[in-house]
Amino acid sequence: MLRRAPGPRILPYIGCAWTYFPIIGHGDDPERLHEVYQRKYEKYGPVVYEVFGKKRVLSVYDPSDIRKVLTSTRKHGCARRYSHDILKEFRRSRPDLFSSVGLIPSQDEEWFNLRKTFGDIFLYSEVKKYYPAIHNVAEEFVNYLGLLAKRSGHNEVKDVIEKLHHWALENICKILLGIRLDQFSFRRKDICDEIISTGLEFVIALKKAEVTSSWNYYENKVSRQVKKCDLFFYNYIKNHVHEIESEVSNYRQGKSEEPCLLAKYLRMPGVDVRDAITTASDILVAGHLSTAFAAAAVLYNLGQNLDKQDVLYEILCDHVQKLDDPLTYATVHKKVPYLDDCYREALRLNPVTIGIGRALVTDEMYDGILYKAGTNIITQNQVASRLPAYIDSPMSFRPERWNGTQCPVQSQSISYFLSLPFGVQPRICLGKSLTEIQTLTLIAMIVRRYRIITTSPDNLTVKTLLLNVPDQSIDIQFIPRKD
Ligand code: HEM
Repeated sequence: MLRRAPGPRILPYIGCAWTYFPIIGHGDDPERLHEVYQRKYEKYGPVVYEVFGKKRVLSVYDPSDIRKVLTSTRKHGCARRYSHDILKEFRRSRPDLFSSVGLIPSQDEEWFNLRKTFGDIFLYSEVKKYYPAIHNVAEEFVNYLGLLAKRSGHNEVKDVIEKLHHWALENICKILLGIRLDQFSFRRKDICDEIISTGLEFVIALKKAEVTSSWNYYENKVSRQVKKCDLFFYNYIKNHVHEIESEVSNYRQGKSEEPCLLAKYLRMPGVDVRDAITTASDILVAGHLSTAFAAAAVLYNLGQNLDKQDVLYEILCDHVQKLDDPLTYATVHKKVPYLDDCYREALRLNPVTIGIGRALVTDEMYDGILYKAGTNIITQNQVASRLPAYIDSPMSFRPERWNGTQCPVQSQSISYFLSLPFGVQPRICLGKSLTEIQTLTLIAMIVRRYRIITTSPDNLTVKTLLLNVPDQSIDIQFIPRKD
């Protein structure tokens, strides 16, 4: 006999939305979804089934179940992820600008073709070509942080994330468009602030559109915001296309450094220029926001766990003899596995997203319960990563538990599927290799030159706004080290 799926009561019309209502519901806060889903785990167990309007949602916490559902949602080299429908609708309504909906909201054949065309450029061997630029931006930024810290009088930089957004933005603009916006002057150019604030507005509006449906029926504030932000980034990229086309011809004549990503996209045979612009504009948004949050998570944890920071510092000194010696690509990428362990451990404790989304392509039976095709799956990695049922001493920052491997399945103590900060194939984050090299370079440079101490907050809390956005200022002291 089929069992009923565990989860809150499903009421006519509103489904489980009542849980978010005050008085009759639990007053759940949609901006603290990790807390909401922690409580649901405690109440219903490791599988929770809910209905919101027409959406059926299955939350999965146990890494072995996560593995099962992710494997079964993978069909013919594709995996469906139902998200960003509002973006899909808007982009479909403007064929003059968009020839496809872009990588993030697309499905099946459309997604497969886009990923095949635009994905290869993010292989490590390709990212390595941009390492001189990545190193240069990190060097300038670390000097800038040093000056900010010195100016404060007590080596402190307040609201580090705000600074990291600028670092990530300079990085992505250099690699994607071959331009620098502002080489970290104390009064940043207006365009830098405009890009960052529009990016944040974009993710907030996209999140609102995920949890509401009124935009489906009439234009409202959320749909206007999404359109405005999408067009801002699209036009920003479009305005660079002409300059970049001339860069392409310079490169052909052997006059230029490594061409930027957009230049490479534009010279791919048969690529629709609208697709190149859409992909580049998605990369610009994803590239400067999430990278900054991830780098902040690593700095925050190292600044709180000085014993672990000391281990990293000692290892780095073996590879970078003098304080200002350059960091090689090999040091960052391979030679210091502990650096990567710190990155992984920080993203386990403070991931940038709550988990990943998939959709069932066919009806599937899990644990004696049948779930219909079209059901959305949410892997609750953020909650699971802090549960003692799945990991020892979950609240401790212990980089060594990753043991120098990105596949902890080999270390036997942690399931690979427990912490998936970049998702999994085939839809694994397009920018994983790029963001990783950028962040590891920055962290290694900072730790080699400064002892960092987190002064605030004691406990990092976040709002779940599509990305996890810290809701307090992260303040860090940067104390210069001596050779
Ligand atoms: C620390 C920084 C980042 C984090 C934590 C992150 C996380 C993620 C996650 C969880 C996914 C969904 C994966 C899945 O469904 O399996 C994703 C997808 C994606 N990310 Fe990232 N990301 C980051 C940085 C970047 C950067 C720098 C770029 C651009 C260069 C980027 C571009 C994308 C794109 C285009 C997708 C959609 C891929 C597809 O559906 O095929 N991300 N990212």
